[in-house]
Amino acid sequence: MFARYRKNTQAQPVKSVKAIPEREEPRKAAPAAAPQPQDAPKRTATQAKPIAARAAAPDRNEQRKQRMNALKSDLHKRLLENLNLSALETASEAELRSEINTIVAEALSEMDVVLNSEERATLNKEMYFEVMGLGPLEPLLQDDSVNDILVNGPKQVFIERAGKLQLSDVTFRDERHLLRIIDKIVSAVGRRVDESNPYVDARLSDGSRFNAMVPPVAVDGSLVSIRKFKKEKLSVDDLVRFGAFSPEMALYLEAAVATRLNVIVSGGTGSGKTTTLNALSSFIGNDERVLTIEDTAELQLQQIHVGRMESRPANMEGKGAVTQRDCLRNALRMRPDRIIVGETRGEEVIDMLQAMNTGHDGSMTTIHANSARDGISRLENMVAMAGIEMPLRAVRSQIGSAVHLIVQASRLQDGSRRMTSITEITGMEGDIITMQEIFRFERTGLEPDGTILGHFTGTGLRSHYADRFKRWGYDLPTSIYDEVRGH
Ligand SMILES: Nc1ncnc2c1ncn2[C@@H]1O[C@H](COP(=O)(O)OP(=O)(O)OP(=O)(O)O)[C@@H](O)[C@H]1O
Ligand SMILES: [Mg+2]
Repeated sequence: MFARYRKNTQAQPVKSVKAIPEREEPRKAAPAAAPQPQDAPKRTATQAKPIAARAAAPDRNEQRKQRMNALKSDLHKRLLENLNLSALETASEAELRSEINTIVAEALSEMDVVLNSEERATLNKEMYFEVMGLGPLEPLLQDDSVNDILVNGPKQVFIERAGKLQLSDVTFRDERHLLRIIDKIVSAVGRRVDESNPYVDARLSDGSRFNAMVPPVAVDGSLVSIRKFKKEKLSVDDLVRFGAFSPEMALYLEAAVATRLNVIVSGGTGSGKTTTLNALSSFIGNDERVLTIEDTAELQLQQIHVGRMESRPANMEGKGAVTQRDCLRNALRMRPDRIIVGETRGEEVIDMLQAMNTGHDGSMTTIHANSARDGISRLENMVAMAGIEMPLRAVRSQIGSAVHLIVQASRLQDGSRRMTSITEITGMEGDIITMQEIFRFERTGLEPDGTILGHFTGTGLRSHYADRFKRWGYDLPTSIYDEVRGH
């Protein structure tokens, strides 16, 4: 029955057996482990032996690895030659796996390669991932505890788990193998990556964000960065439970979002900005029309009335680009109650500020900045870089009236992600935007294992928007703003 997914080719070519002699070099290398004095005339036997003996063990491992890699490469070629790829689409996973296992078994016996059952099971799985998935990346993509996958050339794959970066034992056979996987990803979304077009953004079929940069711009081999898409988004309750912010802060944020303050989530790379934005959006009512604009659609709002937009780069002929700014301008004609921009990083800042200032209260976005003050400067810079000739004071007054709240997300050294500050914009004094911090994370110490100790606290300042909250039915107890003393 397995012949169903096979090409109707004639006899299986047994030619690839020729690969075996190539993989015999280990045997050639073996005598080197115990060199005869006449083989190495420049060294005495006593000098040579210990060095060779020491080198022998890792060598054998390395050789075995190389042999396995060559074997995998061969098997992969065979699978592609033998499988009827168009028939694969209709095959069930079980059928496919059994078909691949059969072809692998046949090939191994033809090649006279003996593996134990564990090695064989691993090989079968890897071959399945090679043909149907993204090869060595596949187990990492399927592992829900992995947040980020960062590939630095074929031999180094880092992953981020629980906020910590670690080197994984995943490797690619060589740069060509890595490039083939990159190509598989980008060609699936109709893009290309090569020397003349050396970097690319894409979204994997599971929603993960993908970026690749290939040599020669990437100096030591292709660089790949993947931000895994989480099916289960972290809710406000989850985030409170994980210690990302306190229940008091959650109460405050609920009031802020529900009463339509314009919120900016600021933070560094991977600090949890998108996660925070997504969680905050849960406070938006179901009777509102929300439009989201992103470069890579990551947000997953729970509301029933959501229109999602994703910008796109130009195609290979340099045509068809739709920027976030284009989406934003169009969004204003789509009768939104609120607009959410995944990340403001360029000229769209102008339209975002205008939208916030002209009746689309309750809009939200994220920016890359290290503090609320820094966030304001980033906004000013973005306006300047968008080529708008406006006096700084005018820009500031636009920002000051558009933005109500800046929420700072941070990834601390111990890998934990916390909302380190909630700051309100209160107005302008002369040329300066005035702000007041309402909540912050106070660090109190460090455990020997590097865990950061600390707690969330109010600053003792009552919200500038307390009356607004009250008018809208969110009469927050003033005790939530109290300072919490450290232990
Ligand atoms: N409080 C948290 N606790 C545990 N994991 C978190 C927390 N916040 C975010 N994460 C996880 O950290 C990763 C990065 O989060 P997120 O995508 O929100 O960051 P980001 O600041 O938007 O990153 P980028 O700058 O790359 O857009 C995600 O995998 C997310 O699930
Ligand atoms: Mg993000």
